Amino acid sequence: MSHLPLLQLRGVGKSYGTNRVLQGFELSVQAGEIVSLIGPSGSGKTTALRCMNFLETYDEGEIWIDGQLLGYSGPGRTVRDRDSDSQIDEVRKPLSMVFQQFNLWPHMSVRENVMAPLVLGKHMSKAEARTLADAALQRVGLAAKADAYPARLSGGQQQRVGIARALAVKPRLMLLDEPTSALDPELVEEVLQVIRSLADDGMTMVMVTHEMSFAAQISSQVVFMEAGQIVETGEPGAMFQAPKTERLQRFLKPWFNRSLSPRVEALS
Ligand SMILES: Nc1ncnc2c1ncn2[C@@H]1O[C@H](COP(=O)(O)OP(=O)(O)O)[C@@H](O)[C@H]1O
Ligand SMILES: [Mg+2]
Repeated sequence: MSHLPLLQLRGVGKSYGTNRVLQGFELSVQAGEIVSLIGPSGSGKTTALRCMNFLETYDEGEIWIDGQLLGYSGPGRTVRDRDSDSQIDEVRKPLSMVFQQFNLWPHMSVRENVMAPLVLGKHMSKAEARTLADAALQRVGLAAKADAYPARLSGGQQQRVGIARALAVKPRLMLLDEPTSALDPELVEEVLQVIRSLADDGMTMVMVTHEMSFAAQISSQVVFMEAGQIVETGEPGAMFQAPKTERLQRFLKPWFNRSLSPRVEALS
């Protein structure tokens, strides 16, 4: 039996002026799936992710979240009426996002950072928000840091706060944009571990990443993009072990070289 996808993109396109950064983008994500978006810098990965949440408008195609069209009042290809902000918020309610640069407020404590979307975005009482925030911080192993300010935390801890903030709203799907790429190498693993534990709990995720081993381990589907288009997509086994396109082979080559020569990597 097939279920309605939690997220579906059909022929999605996006331009900045004359620069067409997304073209004919197709994706279908079922509940419980983990999709990794990979590709060179500037290929449109962040734009694709931001369109899924309507942090960016898209100009072509359709994005459906749990059967509801996101952003516009009717399907179509070009000129459409934009929905009201409250309608857009309602449709994207099941989604939350983790940003590459954490985007924490420096003047707020860790707990206040996690509470902010609940109080400001969801108009929850402070008491209710605090309970959810503390539970989310517990979930990422940072209950003890609730009263600290972000500047006192390591980058890995700050990103775990970013994940807690995205978790506190109880999303059904999380969008993660290179969650570990702003971190010192030794802080990457603690963040990957948190993401892995969310995956183990069945969280649906779409993640942009350069952590190829991690993507190979946890993804149900891998999407490789270049120049705003999907070049190749499939299960991680096929994508990483037997890439079909020359472009994906070339993209993965440095990673293969590294994983075949761990001693060289250890010395560098
Ligand atoms: N706000 C913006 N205004 C204009 N161009 C943008 C903007 N954001 C991204 N771009 C352009 O869109 C393309 C894709 O960028 P991006 O989605 O950030 O790629 P990636 O995340 O894969 O590195 C790039 O050419 C980038 O310069
Ligand atoms: Mg990006």
